[in-house]
Amino acid sequence: MNQIIDKSKLRALQWSVMENVSASAILPLMRIGDELGLFTALAEAGPCSSQAFADAAGIDERYAREWLHALCAAGYCSHDDDFTAFYLSAEQQAVFADEDSKALMIGAFDILVGNVHGIDAITEAFKTGDGVNYGDFHACVFKGTARFFKPSYKSNLLEKWMPKIPAATEKLEAGGRLCDVGCGKGLSTLLLAEHYPKASFVGIDIHEPSIDEANEEADQAGLSDRLCYDAADAESYGGDYDIITFFDCLHDMGDPLGAAKYARSRLREGGMVILIEPSAADHPSDNMSVIGQMYYSFSTMGCVPTSKSQKVGLALGAQAGPQRLSDIMLEAGFKDTEVVFKNASNMVISCTT
Ligand SMILES: C[S@@+](CC[C@H](N)C(=O)[O-])C[C@H]1O[C@@H](n2cnc3c(N)ncnc32)[C@H](O)[C@@H]1O
Repeated sequence: MNQIIDKSKLRALQWSVMENVSASAILPLMRIGDELGLFTALAEAGPCSSQAFADAAGIDERYAREWLHALCAAGYCSHDDDFTAFYLSAEQQAVFADEDSKALMIGAFDILVGNVHGIDAITEAFKTGDGVNYGDFHACVFKGTARFFKPSYKSNLLEKWMPKIPAATEKLEAGGRLCDVGCGKGLSTLLLAEHYPKASFVGIDIHEPSIDEANEEADQAGLSDRLCYDAADAESYGGDYDIITFFDCLHDMGDPLGAAKYARSRLREGGMVILIEPSAADHPSDNMSVIGQMYYSFSTMGCVPTSKSQKVGLALGAQAGPQRLSDIMLEAGFKDTEVVFKNASNMVISCTT
């Protein structure tokens, strides 16, 4: 390895590292800000001095000021010319302070903090090749997964994804039955149940605490008569369905082919599967992007260890690509697969029988 260093390539690499280090350095500040309600406090109190902000949030002024300056440097917070007044712009409020906003992104930092907590277990798994059970991840991972992907479900599921699959919307409008496999805390199932009042819905997931929370949400929404959640594995749930969905979870499963075959066996005549997966191309060379960096990293810390902890342990990874996913569905006995929607973050694949 006697290579000559190209100075301009070295500088470019160092700058790229610097950008990533800077982005990573703000991670604990985001988590602390979220935990202490600093974003909502600033949204309500601003424009205000660091002292007024600290008073409103009930925190120490010196910490408040340093936090504000760090966030201003990141462009996550706004300020006047001489840094005496701080506030969140409308866009910053939508991204950090409004839990119901379709632009909310604060949940990403929950996932990242959860992944940092997982370092010891995943380091060990790197050496042994074993997996780590999804349920053994830090609680921030579960909270963050639901929260980070919530805006995407709210913006896309009913307005952009379902209209691309007319056969599915017809079934649900007529009063069909849908099972949402690997539903996590169940937001996707809840949104569908709210939108299609004649249909009935089941969400299943191996993670019992998520299922308990999902059932509470269904109760609160007054939907329990036709929406329920059960703790079950992708190859052990009961019932027969017109539609079975796998939203951002098939690649997390140890045996996606087994899960797809089982889903096939649970479908009524003319039934279908809808897959939503992280957007990816088939070849790694086409996934070398900001989004690819994020998904391969999430996958290393979450998807691969989860899959390896289960039977078969195929470990597809979050960037498996449409061809590999399609091959699995065809091998499981589906007649046809089609990518009906794709944007920078997600792709939707419909699989017919
Ligand atoms: C990335 S999360 C996605 C959750 C949810 N569908 C969403 O989009 O927010 C993956 C989910 O798959 C679930 N999962 C993993 N393996 C499973 C299996 N074999 N059977 C059922 N659920 C499984 C996990 O418990 C987790 O809730």
